[in-house]
Amino acid sequence: MAAAAASSLLLALLLSLATAQAWEALPLQKRAFYSPSFSMAPGSVAFDYFYDVEFPRGHLALKSFRADVVDADDNVIPYHEVYLHHSYIVRYYQARNYSIPPVLDIETLPYGDGFIYRRNHGICQGDLLGQYFGLGTEMQSTPTAVPDPYGIEIGNPAPIPHGFDEKWLLVVHAIDTRGAVDRFGCAECRRDLYNVTVDQFGEPLKDDYYGGLSCCYAHTQCKVREDYEGTTRSLRMRYTLTWTEWVPSIIPVRVYIFDVTDDMKLVVNPSSGAVAAKHDCLIEYMVESCHVDGNGEKGCADFKKSIVAMPKGGNVIFGLTHLHSGAINSTLYGQDGRVLCTTKPIYGEGMEEGYIVGMSTCYPEPGSVWIDDGELMVHESVYTAERRRTGVMALFYLLVADRVADTPAAPAGFNDNYFMGVRSMLAEKLAGGGGGAVRSGDGGASGAFVGVGLVLLGAVATALLLRVKRS
Ligand SMILES: *[C@@H]1O[C@H](CO)[C@@H](O)[C@H](O)[C@H]1NC(C)=O
Ligand SMILES: *[C@@H]1O[C@H](CO)[C@@H](O)[C@H](O)[C@H]1NC(C)=O
Ligand SMILES: *[C@@H]1O[C@H](CO)[C@@H](O)[C@H](O)[C@H]1NC(C)=O
Repeated sequence: MAAAAASSLLLALLLSLATAQAWEALPLQKRAFYSPSFSMAPGSVAFDYFYDVEFPRGHLALKSFRADVVDADDNVIPYHEVYLHHSYIVRYYQARNYSIPPVLDIETLPYGDGFIYRRNHGICQGDLLGQYFGLGTEMQSTPTAVPDPYGIEIGNPAPIPHGFDEKWLLVVHAIDTRGAVDRFGCAECRRDLYNVTVDQFGEPLKDDYYGGLSCCYAHTQCKVREDYEGTTRSLRMRYTLTWTEWVPSIIPVRVYIFDVTDDMKLVVNPSSGAVAAKHDCLIEYMVESCHVDGNGEKGCADFKKSIVAMPKGGNVIFGLTHLHSGAINSTLYGQDGRVLCTTKPIYGEGMEEGYIVGMSTCYPEPGSVWIDDGELMVHESVYTAERRRTGVMALFYLLVADRVADTPAAPAGFNDNYFMGVRSMLAEKLAGGGGGAVRSGDGGASGAFVGVGLVLLGAVATALLLRVKRS
């Protein structure tokens, strides 16, 4: 009897050890996959949506992603030849009796009952910025690894509807700038270099649209020097993934992408008091030159800020931004002004001078950076403004977990609800704070205004739309 008890105790001990060490024992798998090929000539643009690309199958934890443009011999094409505007991966479910062409060159998702878009955790409207991983030129030397014991859960069969399969879409936007009249102008999709009058859907461009994604869609052409002779090449995306089998000891992370152009509005339902965030992400924006009066200082900077509400709080595991050439830094602040994550670009040298070849990242100490449910965060991006820059972006990519490895719950004081954020934002507005930056951590003054805010909130009986003023 005693021996049996002892041996079952030993077994339990061994099992628990095995569970505790399951993570260590799991081998990280790594593989490079290739997209179908696309051809590029000097000045040409590749904007391809590759459906059902090769991908690791099974119930897995995705750990990292990087993508390079390569030629038929697997040589990486440098950015000064082919500028990788961006490349990313998106998940979807496809019915087995539904077909999608392997490649589309327009930004319209397949529609119908057989296609279900499975976006990340947000937060832009509709299907915008729903990718799990993806960057531009900075992928060259930016770590994207999800640290242990966290992972992006994919391939879980439970949520996949009967008759559907989980598949992946790879999006590639690349611009061949060999022989370009203005390499950086082509990379910025400047309108005067593309000679376009309509966007990819045939809608006329507005007169004050000087450049951006609406000028450099598939089949457009950037201006190349007349004497330049370059060959047409057949290229592919090589995307390298690392992953591990999913086991219960892995802590899943949620994937968020915040866009600095997001003109978020909080809509308060007057009867229930429920607050909902409505997003309006524009993806890109324009930095105006500070030289309008002809004597701007060199080194002047453009600050852009927006306020965004965190849908579901948690522990920050990883932070990274996608910025374009000319960027200085980008920061996400908490409601009390604390820095949640700040990143800055690393610029290349030699032929890669002026291109972002890497980005600093945030891997906070486990449990050190928490975001509250509904917390209002300030998203800031800073660009140099010596000249006008078109089509710039500032996307904050954040991985958040409900708990950290050895801390089962959020620390005390992180249980404010969504309303707190709304109240203090309202307070800021009433205080004439404007500028959108909720940075003062002055709880006392803010508290007084909260009272006023709530009285007003009650008085305004109809649906109250709060518009956050952006600076
Ligand atoms: C595809 O299959 C689903 C059930 O799995 C069915 O409801 C649908 O009508 C089918 N569509 C076509 C075009 O056959
Ligand atoms: C610009 O496009 C128009 C027609 O869309 C064409 O006639 C003209 O030659 C183009 N200009 C240049 C410089 O390519
Ligand atoms: C970002 O850059 C601007 C301009 O150089 C600077 O004023 C600001 O302090 C920087 N932000 C952070 C968080 O370092």
